[in-house]
Amino acid sequence: MNRSANATVVGLQWGDEGKGKIVDALAGVSRYVVRFCGGANAGHTVTVNGQKFAMHLIPCGILHDGVLNFVGNGVVFDPATALGEIDALLSRGVAVSPDNLRISSAAHVVMPWHKAQDSLSEQRLGGGKIGTTARGIGPCYADKANRSTAIRVGDLACPDALAEKIRHVAEIKNKVFSSLFGAEALDAEAIVPEFIEYGRRLAPMICDTGHLLRLACRKGEPILFEGGQGIMLDVDHGTYPFVTSSAVSACGVPQGAGVPPGATGTVVGLVKAYTSRVGAGPFPTEQSNEIGDRLRERGREYGTTTGRPRRCGWLDAFAVRYAAELSGVDELALALLDVLTGFDELKVCTGYRVGGRDLEAFDVTAMGAAECTYESFPGWTSDITACRKFDDLPPEAQQYVKRVGELIGRPVAFISVGPDRQQNIVHRTRLEGLK
Ligand code: IMP
Repeated sequence: MNRSANATVVGLQWGDEGKGKIVDALAGVSRYVVRFCGGANAGHTVTVNGQKFAMHLIPCGILHDGVLNFVGNGVVFDPATALGEIDALLSRGVAVSPDNLRISSAAHVVMPWHKAQDSLSEQRLGGGKIGTTARGIGPCYADKANRSTAIRVGDLACPDALAEKIRHVAEIKNKVFSSLFGAEALDAEAIVPEFIEYGRRLAPMICDTGHLLRLACRKGEPILFEGGQGIMLDVDHGTYPFVTSSAVSACGVPQGAGVPPGATGTVVGLVKAYTSRVGAGPFPTEQSNEIGDRLRERGREYGTTTGRPRRCGWLDAFAVRYAAELSGVDELALALLDVLTGFDELKVCTGYRVGGRDLEAFDVTAMGAAECTYESFPGWTSDITACRKFDDLPPEAQQYVKRVGELIGRPVAFISVGPDRQQNIVHRTRLEGLK
């Protein structure tokens, strides 16, 4: 197996690090682009010639000719959202067919009861809510683990068995909804034809994507694994319970795509030059002040999926170092550096103090009680969006980038200075697509 041809892109913070853009850059030299975790909670934005594409379920490689895009078994798949996305792409002249899009038969289907349950349980939690995207992600993964109440993408292609399953699961869900939430029953007889129709449209794309990817690995065809969310939202390694419900680090690639460990290839860790978070949970470097407001406005920090304003703060290099270690990150891509232009002073968190003592090692469970130790940097005022070489950056920006790489312990290979495909600085990378 030729492992070196593959690459994995993962977010090292709480998502929204700008993965769409780097996936787009790498997709151009890949044969396959594969989503392996999450679902329509993701929002990957790619800007091509000033045209913005916001992708939720369809891999970003769809915007490139000759790329086969796979939705892997680890994804929770919402057929209504996917078909809406496919139709929107078709109407904008982007080709989408079984020739360039396949969906794993083993991915799980997000059903109407999952979305309803997501919203109802958040309402029930009140002030203690997780702040989910309400896309039914958690309840769908819960049913995956529960098995007897799950529906998989492969089921969509078998209308009679699907109808039977929907009726069976809806009956159970309706009992739970009425007793636990006092909610109205869902009408299984309306859901059945809706999902049979989804199955009819999607059937030509449904297959064993893992098998095809293992063949590709054997042949040495380049695969790009497109991560969703960010490692601090990982169900095992993030700020639990304020996390999503899947394995979003590079450790999730083999399981969520059906490839052997080692197939991840070069791992690129995406880091925003500052930090943002949507939803509840600890965020030690958060700036609930005019610094945070300024980052939000300059960075247009409003959710791609939900439109919610994102919480904003300084870069937390202590947490990102942990995320990079966990994912075996080889190279860093630093995104949205241009958003920092105009600040007199910049800060980066280098460690935590808990109970008056410096933590020796990063501890995700300590984040809620952590006080940050910061290193300060002088800011810069000149516009950097036209910079295309590292040396074009003002010295203060160069110093910031170098120090961030040192603090995280990985080389910064790629710097994004604006939303468009061309607004990048490629510093030093082993990846062809980034050169
Ligand atoms: P869920 O994934 O919808 O269950 O949401 C759980 C948590 O993950 C919430 O805090 C969401 O805001 C967050 N989240 C899920 N997906 C994304 C993403 O793609 N970007 C940023 N945050 C996300």
